[in-house]
Amino acid sequence: MAGQLAPGRRIAGSEQAHYTHQRISAVLKLDYTGIPADRSGRMRVEALETELRKGDIGTVVVTLGTTAIGAVDPLVEVLALRERYGFRVHVDAAYGGYFRLISEALDEPARRAYAAIDQVDSIVIDPHKHGLQPYGCGCVLFRDPGVGRIYKHESPYTYFTSKQSHLHSSEQKSLAGGPVHLGEVSLECSRAGAAAVALWATQQLLPLVPKGEFARGLARGRAAALELDRRLRHDQTGRFQPLACNPPQLDIVVWKLKAETAKRASELARELFAASAGRDLHLALVELPLAWFGPADSEAAGATAGSVTCLRSVLMKPEHEVWLDRIWDRWTAACVDVLGA
Ligand SMILES: Cc1ncc(COP(=O)(O)O)c(C=O)c1O
Repeated sequence: MAGQLAPGRRIAGSEQAHYTHQRISAVLKLDYTGIPADRSGRMRVEALETELRKGDIGTVVVTLGTTAIGAVDPLVEVLALRERYGFRVHVDAAYGGYFRLISEALDEPARRAYAAIDQVDSIVIDPHKHGLQPYGCGCVLFRDPGVGRIYKHESPYTYFTSKQSHLHSSEQKSLAGGPVHLGEVSLECSRAGAAAVALWATQQLLPLVPKGEFARGLARGRAAALELDRRLRHDQTGRFQPLACNPPQLDIVVWKLKAETAKRASELARELFAASAGRDLHLALVELPLAWFGPADSEAAGATAGSVTCLRSVLMKPEHEVWLDRIWDRWTAACVDVLGA
């Protein structure tokens, strides 16, 4: 869509945006520019503006909930730049979109970003991440349904044609060329209807309403993340170093091991990853800039440049809250395995 609606113009997104943006831009031969992120993992607005001044950015990708640490990009500030420079705003809320339901519990910058989400041009959300669907169910939503003309195709063998459309009259009117059937504007061809039906059924049972059961589940996962982060920060052995920005912006917790060098900290993270898995605690590894862990660590490591391998835990299930003591016990046991008492 970016290529069609703003031909010849670049797409910009944070260096922390999901790799898919850069990859699909390369496949489609669209120029993509990575914008540096700050120590909170948020896109740097002044770095974005430097690129915008060059006058050839057509679309800015704003991520609400980055893959690595769940950072929430400064959407309000990007929207202000849109007033001045004119570009499309695409929000990647694949992971973080559902947090709009509990945005009042998030930090102030994230809360402001979620409050502005209805001003953007397009949004991606993945119900197979936080929406309880166990199979691919991603959606892209456009403010202007007229973009359907870019997807629209006609084929002699489709089951339904526009003339037989079951769309409501308001939706029918929205495409300049007249009513279309959804099958005519989907990028995918044959696909199981099960995913859509399952999502619908889930939302019948657990409606997406603030303070509802689904929203409370999200809040419990986030509470678990805050508690894990707190325990890591205050652990008496002092061996763990959570991100300098705190607390976690959504429900993803990241920390590194304290060590003489970043290389050693990375080795320890990998050893602890394996030791935890051996105890059925399945963490993840993530490579992050060393500078995100603050000046104290940089002095110990002798440099702020470079990256370090960290441990990452995504506490996305409501059950993580009641499981936290058991998670912590396994983690500390894995630490004894690797680091000694
Ligand atoms: C922010 C974000 N965008 C996009 C994606 C890609 O989603 P999928 O792997 O379902 O295509 C991910 C996956 O982790 C993500 O975290």
